[in-house]
Amino acid sequence: MIESATSVNYLRQTAIEQLTTADVDAPSITAEVILAHALNITRARLLARLDASLEPDQLAQFQIDLKRLSDGEPLAYVVGHREFYDLDLLTDRRALIPRPETECLVERAIKLLASHPAPLIADIGTGCGAIAVTLAKHLPRARVIVSDLSVDAVELARSNACRHHVENQIEFRIGDLLAPVNELLDLLVANLPYIDDKDWPFLARTIRGHEPRMAFLGGPDGLNLMRQFLVAAPRCVRAGSVILLEIGAYQGDDVTAIVQQSFPHAKISIEPDYAGLDRLAVIEVM
Ligand SMILES: C[S@@+](CC[C@H](N)C(=O)[O-])C[C@H]1O[C@@H](n2cnc3c(N)ncnc32)[C@H](O)[C@@H]1O
Repeated sequence: MIESATSVNYLRQTAIEQLTTADVDAPSITAEVILAHALNITRARLLARLDASLEPDQLAQFQIDLKRLSDGEPLAYVVGHREFYDLDLLTDRRALIPRPETECLVERAIKLLASHPAPLIADIGTGCGAIAVTLAKHLPRARVIVSDLSVDAVELARSNACRHHVENQIEFRIGDLLAPVNELLDLLVANLPYIDDKDWPFLARTIRGHEPRMAFLGGPDGLNLMRQFLVAAPRCVRAGSVILLEIGAYQGDDVTAIVQQSFPHAKISIEPDYAGLDRLAVIEVM
C-alpha cells in the first residue's frame, strides 16, 4: 500500500530523518510533539492515530515548526509551552525556558511555607514566572512579588499568572535585582544568571541562538549578580526569613563564602539536585 504524503506516519518518518540530519535532540519524540501540536491533540492520541492525515493548514504549521527546529530553535519556543513542576507554562523568546533543576527550589519553598498562614515571598529574576506562579498556585495564602530587569520577561510572567489564575496573588515589578523590593520578606528566592561568561561559546546552539543572553551570564566567574544580590539582601529579610538561591553545579563553596559576608550568623546549607550536583543554597537568617 502506498502511504499518503500527508499521513501522520509518513510525516513522522520524514521529520525524524530531517531532525536527525539537523542534529536535533530526541528526534522521534520531537517529531511527534510537533505533529501533535499541528493537529492540536496530545502526543498519546497522535500515536493512536498514525494513519490520520493532516489538513493543508495543519501541514503548513507542521512544516514551519520543522524548519524552526532544524534551524536550532528550542522545542519549547516552537510549540510555545513547557511543563514545569505540575504546571504547563507559556514559553517564548522573551524569557529563559524553565529547567527541571529549578523544581528543586520550588519543592523546597513549598515545604518550607506549607503551614505559614500568609507568607510574603519575592522571586527575583522571575523570567517567565515559573517559580512565582508555581508557588502562588501551591500556596494560595501567599503574596508573591516578582521582579526582572527584562520588561518582556515580566509580561510573559503576567501571562503565565493569568493562565493559572493566580494574578491576584502576584505583584509584577521591573528593575535591577532587589531595587524594586521595599518589603520585609518571609521567603526570598532567586534563580539569577550564574554561567561564567567564558562558557557562553560552549553552550548548546539552541541556547546561544535563541534564549536571552542576559538570563544566563553572570560575569567572569558567573557570580557577579549573586554578589550584588547578597549585598542588598539583608535589607529585605529579618530573623526567621529564608533565602533560596539556585546555583551552578560547582559553585557551592564560592556561594557559601559570599553569603557569609552578608549573613555572618545565618545557617547556610548547599543542597544537591536530582543529579547529585550543587543546586540550591538555603540561607536561614538568624
Ligand atoms: C536564569 S533566568 C531565571 C528565570 C526564571 N526565574 C526561571 O527559574 O526559569 C534569570 C533571570 O534573571 C533576569 N535578570 C538578569 N539580570 C538581572 C538583574 N540585574 N536584575 C533583575 N533580573 C535580572 C533575566 O532577565 C532572567 O529572566
